Amino acid sequence: MLIENQHYRTVWYEKDKNRVAMINQVKLPFEFEVVHFDTYKDTAEAIRNMTVRGAGAIGATAGFAMAQAIVDAANWEQVVQARAYIEATRPTAVNLFYATAKVFNAGKEQKDLAVSMAQQIADEDAENCRLIGEFGNPLIHSSCRILTHCNAGWLAFVDFGSAISPIYAAQRAGKQPFVYVDETRPRGQGARLTAYELSQNNVEHRIIADNSAAFYMSKGKVDMVITGADRITANGDVANKIGTLEKAILAKEFGIPFYVAAPFSTVDFSTASGQDIIIEERSDDELLYHEGPDAQGVMRRIRMAAPDSKGLNPAFDVTPARYITAFITNKGLIRPDDLKSYNERE
Ligand code: MRU
Repeated sequence: MLIENQHYRTVWYEKDKNRVAMINQVKLPFEFEVVHFDTYKDTAEAIRNMTVRGAGAIGATAGFAMAQAIVDAANWEQVVQARAYIEATRPTAVNLFYATAKVFNAGKEQKDLAVSMAQQIADEDAENCRLIGEFGNPLIHSSCRILTHCNAGWLAFVDFGSAISPIYAAQRAGKQPFVYVDETRPRGQGARLTAYELSQNNVEHRIIADNSAAFYMSKGKVDMVITGADRITANGDVANKIGTLEKAILAKEFGIPFYVAAPFSTVDFSTASGQDIIIEERSDDELLYHEGPDAQGVMRRIRMAAPDSKGLNPAFDVTPARYITAFITNKGLIRPDDLKSYNERE
């Protein structure tokens, strides 16, 4: 995708240096910075502190971290320890575990195979997201008004994105989609990241407060909702950024189609239902403080809440399958009830 008209992936691997490079998402949208990590521990820390975030981008990064560890390891015991270290960074997005397992298994045979597997995971992520765009585009009519939550755009993947990919495809096809961007408290991935990438790619949009979706839906101003997913369980339940569940309930109330866009690497057939998903709890600092530039452009951190109060900060919630109209995947549109037939086919 484009930044200042130059194409970037969100994360990539520099093979000659065994080094991982990525766009620093903590600094966006105020500063565009590419950062590099020389060791798997530093790359894993970038996942934990959300320098890189979003299911597909986390998966690709974890795959690269696993490859870094395998290249540098003196023995297999170190690789086993590295895998545990990388997998302890963030528990909810299944792409992370999918990637570490694949690279780990490839590396058992040969170090070089670990590197090529990590690269393949990243390339497949980009291609699958492109296909999500192609399959989702026909759902979007020429002046469609779409509500999205969090950032499931190209920054959340290696390229193209999941929820935003159909919107980019529609735009490329000459349509004029309009996007309501939920700000997505507490970290503001919508206001900061989705709005940034839509601006960079000239897609018409407005940031809305998280609690205003019902207002716009009740006025008939939202034609569809598209969100991403961090994990889809065998029965079609979806873990996604906190606040997704309430958008799904609202969409049902107002008769608005609710789509979840995700590559197949996000489907976890080994987990029966959403009740079995571990939900990450993050520091309440994310809720109680906000960071951004002051009028002079100096970054400031300000408190947004009563000084003596603590907060609660679950990072994800689970939307039951019954609220989901269809999944937009790299294999086409799939109704939640039909998902299990894909497991039987694989
Ligand atoms: O906590 P984050 O920023 O890693 O959140 C994950 C997400 O990006 C969202 O839940 C997204 O909608 C699905 S992942 C592409």
